[in-house]
Amino acid sequence: MSTKITFVGLGIMGSRMAKHLITGGAEVTVYNRSVSATRPFQDMDCKVAMSVDAAVKEADVVITMLANPEAVESVMLGENGGLKHMQTNALWIDSSTVNPSFASRSAAEAKMAGIRFLDAPVAGSKPQAENKELLFFVGGEPEEVEQATPFFSLMGKKVLHIGETGKGASFKMLVNIMLAQSMIIFSEAILLGEKMGIDREFMLNLLPNTVVAAPFIKFKAESIRKDDYEVMFPLELMHKDLHLAGQTAYELDQPLFLAGLAEDLYARAKQEGLGRLDFAAIHRSLKSSKR
Ligand SMILES: NC(=O)c1ccc[n+]([C@@H]2O[C@H](COP(=O)([O-])OP(=O)(O)OC[C@H]3O[C@@H](n4cnc5c(N)ncnc54)[C@H](OP(=O)(O)O)[C@@H]3O)[C@@H](O)[C@H]2O)c1
Repeated sequence: MSTKITFVGLGIMGSRMAKHLITGGAEVTVYNRSVSATRPFQDMDCKVAMSVDAAVKEADVVITMLANPEAVESVMLGENGGLKHMQTNALWIDSSTVNPSFASRSAAEAKMAGIRFLDAPVAGSKPQAENKELLFFVGGEPEEVEQATPFFSLMGKKVLHIGETGKGASFKMLVNIMLAQSMIIFSEAILLGEKMGIDREFMLNLLPNTVVAAPFIKFKAESIRKDDYEVMFPLELMHKDLHLAGQTAYELDQPLFLAGLAEDLYARAKQEGLGRLDFAAIHRSLKSSKR
């Protein structure tokens, strides 16, 4: 009998990940809060559930890919959450980017409901999700990681078991605070360079290929060049990740100076209406800002 997988959250990432599970031959049920996102799945070889309880009740494995801890809480936790409707000993994999203490809380609530748990956020964006090139950062017990690995392999290219519960979320947080800040650093360099009279094209071609630039900057330089911020990773979710990093730093009594400043800059960009553009649109916000 094949494993029944339920995929919850069909946004930019989840829709692509769920599609790979289906085309990879898994027995899949999908669910999304807004029905519109389930429409492309009506014609695929999967079941479409209209409520979270219907979606999870027969699943051996439930994968969630939701915006933030609040979304995971409202769908999975609490009195009417999905956890309450899952089969005893089923496995819940949360691939949403959440803070480590929230992942630990999810694991604790899962345990109380007799459910096994992994936190397994991903590195990679829309193109990597599309091309099955995601990296999974996993926290949890080795037996669960072993059970989940064939499914991770249908959606991604690498599984890194970072440690116990919460360590996947912890590692992902490090990646995203570096990503957020590198984008600002590059943007500021370009803007100052322009003011100093250096040719913009020259900078956009050359700087991303220097050792001081993070490798992803090559792609974002292209967005800046075209002033086209088609969404890969929504700016509002980058703001969320910086906020969660600040919360985690507070919990652990670790000052986080620059990430805090970056959080405010992304907050302002969101206020300016850039939240659903790609996070590289921070450049547009910095460009229009005055001291
Ligand atoms: N995009 C990327 O490049 C990227 C890369 C790595 C990790 N991530 C992480 O992956 C997760 C999903 O990202 P995404 O880019 O796919 O986001 P997205 O396109 O904005 O999709 C968000 C999903 O969360 C659901 N959702 C939001 N609030 C909800 C609520 N209160 N209750 C129920 N469902 C709710 C949305 O449902 P509706 O359709 O009903 O709104 C949608 O299914 C996030 O944690 C993000 O940080 C994203």
